[in-house]
Amino acid sequence: MRVVVAVSGTPGTGKSVFARALAKKLGARVIDLNALINRKKIYTLDVDGTKVASIPKMRMEFARATRGSPGPVVVEGLLAHLLPKQIITHVVVLRTNPKVLERRLRDRGYSVAKTRENVEAEALDVILWEAIQAHGIDRVYEIDVTRVKPDTAVKSFLDALVGEISLRPGKVSWLEEVF
Ligand SMILES: Nc1ncnc2c1ncn2[C@@H]1O[C@H](COP(=O)(O)OP(=O)(O)O)[C@@H](O)[C@H]1O
Ligand SMILES: [Mg+2]
Repeated sequence: MRVVVAVSGTPGTGKSVFARALAKKLGARVIDLNALINRKKIYTLDVDGTKVASIPKMRMEFARATRGSPGPVVVEGLLAHLLPKQIITHVVVLRTNPKVLERRLRDRGYSVAKTRENVEAEALDVILWEAIQAHGIDRVYEIDVTRVKPDTAVKSFLDALVGEISLRPGKVSWLEEVF
């Protein structure tokens, strides 16, 4: 069975960087989910101009994109954990300390409101819980990458794949950091 790894997490947690490093190790193809959504124009614009992807269409286009290619795949994006359970074999959820994330998003030019929204989502484990609900806890790998280099985080994931370490969700808690 081939591996199809979904890399998800709050914006700014390091998905794109991690996905590239992981794909290199696995000899996998990387699918950038945001690019796919834009290319296929499967989104609508909400009142403040934010793109809202159609999840059913995203799932369909992803299935189409992977159907023809037999090799390993790494797909990254903040909706990657919502891709079909039938296709995704592993879900990695990257975590970053909300205080570090806040600085990173502000540096990226996010507004105060958008930064706060994302920092709160990170503090409250939103994506992690969505991932567990969608795929089951045994397929979800949680990695705190706050003080870890991308290559080291990739090594951890590969070690977890062969059962040498556990990345079972639940070890990360930001509550004391932010409240
Ligand atoms: N493990 C890490 N440690 C420190 N900085 C990181 C790490 N991973 C990513 N970064 C930096 O954080 C920023 C966001 O990374 P990126 O991969 O673009 O996040 P995402 O794709 O989740 O939005 C980039 O400036 C990147 O260089
Ligand atoms: Mg990215």
